[in-house]
Amino acid sequence: MKKFNVLIVGGGSTWTPGLLKAICSRQDTFPINRLVMYDINYERQKIIGEFAKVLFKEEYPDIHFSYTTDKEEAFTEDIDFVFVQMRTGGYEMREKDEKIPLKLGVIGQETCGPGGFAYGMRSIRDMIQLVKDVRSKTKDAWILNYTNPAAIVAIALQQMFPDDKRILNICDQPENLLRSYGRLLNMNERDFDPVYFGLNHFGWFTHLYDPQGNDKLPELREMILKNGFRPADYEQRDKSWLETYAMVQQMVRDFPDYLPNTYLQYYLYPDKVLKKLNPDFTRANEVQAGREKRVFEDCVRVAETGTAKDSNVVANDAHGEFILIVAESIAYNKGDNFIVILKNDGIISNLPDDAMVEVAASITSNGPRPYAVGEIPTFYKGLIEGQYAYEKLTVEAYMEGSYAKALQALTLNRTVVSAAKAREVLDALIEANKEYWPELR
Ligand code: G6P
Ligand code: MN
Repeated sequence: MKKFNVLIVGGGSTWTPGLLKAICSRQDTFPINRLVMYDINYERQKIIGEFAKVLFKEEYPDIHFSYTTDKEEAFTEDIDFVFVQMRTGGYEMREKDEKIPLKLGVIGQETCGPGGFAYGMRSIRDMIQLVKDVRSKTKDAWILNYTNPAAIVAIALQQMFPDDKRILNICDQPENLLRSYGRLLNMNERDFDPVYFGLNHFGWFTHLYDPQGNDKLPELREMILKNGFRPADYEQRDKSWLETYAMVQQMVRDFPDYLPNTYLQYYLYPDKVLKKLNPDFTRANEVQAGREKRVFEDCVRVAETGTAKDSNVVANDAHGEFILIVAESIAYNKGDNFIVILKNDGIISNLPDDAMVEVAASITSNGPRPYAVGEIPTFYKGLIEGQYAYEKLTVEAYMEGSYAKALQALTLNRTVVSAAKAREVLDALIEANKEYWPELR
């Protein structure tokens, strides 16, 4: 079996230890020759890098591992896969993305609404640079990208690199949902053959076939209507995520056709969700006090004690597993079905060809081979078209340095609606993002 060279960009992420554990547990199905972790933040990279050394010594002794903040060392000609999970501006800026809109009475969230807009305007620059850095060394490496907001990043990369067939934008949330359905139905998430349509963080499951070809969605809908909905790993989840999943019940009650992505709560019930969000303590703060603290403390402890055996950083989370099984399917031309982000080109026949949609596809060594969705009903089409217009205008605002387009984008967003509010939030975000955004004129 060929062994692969992998580069992780954003090696200092709170998600990295889970990914490293998944790399260990999948070494027979996705063997790695050399693994390099790269981050611009040496402090964070070092802590997780030292953890990785101990983990690999115990669980993956033949892997060649190193970590670096040096681009020259990170980007090489022989890379096969680049796993990207960068966060431009770090949690400091995530906190601002959430708090600035909230203080003005609008949803403040990592990827949805004005927070997602702000984050998108930051991510585009670094993601374009990342692709250039990789491509300056190799045309062959696959770039698997988790960087958020994935919907906006995907449009920007599609515009900048239209002929690059080895960039794939992915999100673990559909996978998280499949795991949650699996737990309810007592099934493994891989045994589902899902039909899904929409944009990233803005989509719906329409069918969920089991290996015998039975659609399990009607049964799930009844279960959710009756008993509510929880994440598969609810024992490990913070309060805000449990509340988010719980909202699925109301979404299914109001719009019972399909099963919604949890992120739709921000667009369908902005008033209701806004009341639950605390402008002084947002998800960024919750992560910093929870996952970030736990992960970094645990990594330091593992490096000190010299063993990762009793490490309690998350193992087998969807985030770490999903990117690896997608990579495996590409590496060995397995053709497994996953929900990924792709240029529409007729997959959803009544949406524009250039939309970057999230759908199920067979993942092969020649890239994703999507399954046709066909026409979608007016309500969903209307929602998606509005959201897509917002995303596209965001990318155009960035590329053209256009204040007018930024204002149009935010006005179109269902979490904002009022043009006066959009302007107020935009001006505050411009101020906070001076270091990162192009100048908007
Ligand atoms: C899901 C989404 C990611 C998002 C993450 C936020 O996994 O798919 O796109 O970044 O949730 O999680 P957090 O725990 O940081 O709020
Ligand atoms: Mn996501």
